[in-house]
Amino acid sequence: MADELVEQGKALATSGSGSVLACATCHGAQGEGNAAGGFPFLAGQGANYLAEQLEHFASGKRSNPIMQPIAKAMTPEQIKAVSAYFTQLPAPLDKNMLSAHLDLYPAQEQLGAWIANRGDWNNNIPACIQCHGPGGVGVGDAFPALAGLPAAYITEQLKAWRDGKRDPGPLALMGEIAKRMNDEQISATSDYFAKLPANLKNQTVTEGAK
Ligand code: HEC
Ligand code: HEC
Repeated sequence: MADELVEQGKALATSGSGSVLACATCHGAQGEGNAAGGFPFLAGQGANYLAEQLEHFASGKRSNPIMQPIAKAMTPEQIKAVSAYFTQLPAPLDKNMLSAHLDLYPAQEQLGAWIANRGDWNNNIPACIQCHGPGGVGVGDAFPALAGLPAAYITEQLKAWRDGKRDPGPLALMGEIAKRMNDEQISATSDYFAKLPANLKNQTVTEGAK
């Protein structure tokens, strides 16, 4: 049963159907995303999270000119199937490597690393890793992985929440957090998470005051 759903999702993701364009065209053959194009990875994200985003695109709660028509053309069964398919693909980040090289105590001048790991409590901004997990690897079905998402994509999401163009999600957590972030913090934090997996691979992760 579950396998059948995954197979249906795979067929839709790779070949599309009618006005539902093949997801692979933009999100990659393995759902790994495309940093240059600004397309987020879907592989390994929670199934409920993915399904909810597609429902929000379809209803207009989340606005995006590319995804809205695609999601609107999808049936509830197709949404369930692609979500089941993408969630079981391996996330394009190495969780062991991320947790082995965490930079939990960055220097305060390293703005992105600081916000991600420590937050900015003067402005009621919690550390991102409190919900998104150490290294931004994601936690369970509700908190998506951030590490390795394109920087432009992360920035766009935070600004969309600030401008009320993306549904604030569970308990309106992200809507509230994004509103408290200034442009400089958004840009630095986006950059930090986008570069995290690559930086770890190259072992150039910054050594802060430990
Ligand atoms: C023509 C390119 C294109 C195609 C084809 C496409 N997408 Fe997307 N997708 C995007 C873009 C661009 C975004 C980022 C939208 C935003 O900034 O909110 C996105 C975002 C998403 C998100 C939100 C991810 C997140 O982390 O919140 C989901 C889920 C998604 N797409 C699923 C799909 C599925 C399933 C398919 C196939 C049925 C598909 N997409 C086909 C371009 C595409
Ligand atoms: C209190 C918990 C919490 C904290 C702290 C938190 N987030 Fe989130 N974040 C969430 C939830 C829940 C979602 C899923 C929202 C949804 O379902 O639409 C999310 C989603 C996101 C997304 C969307 C990912 C995608 O694939 O589209 C981004 C980007 C993001 N958060 C960035 C951040 C950043 C940057 C910080 C730190 C400044 C942060 N978050 C701190 C709870 C949190």
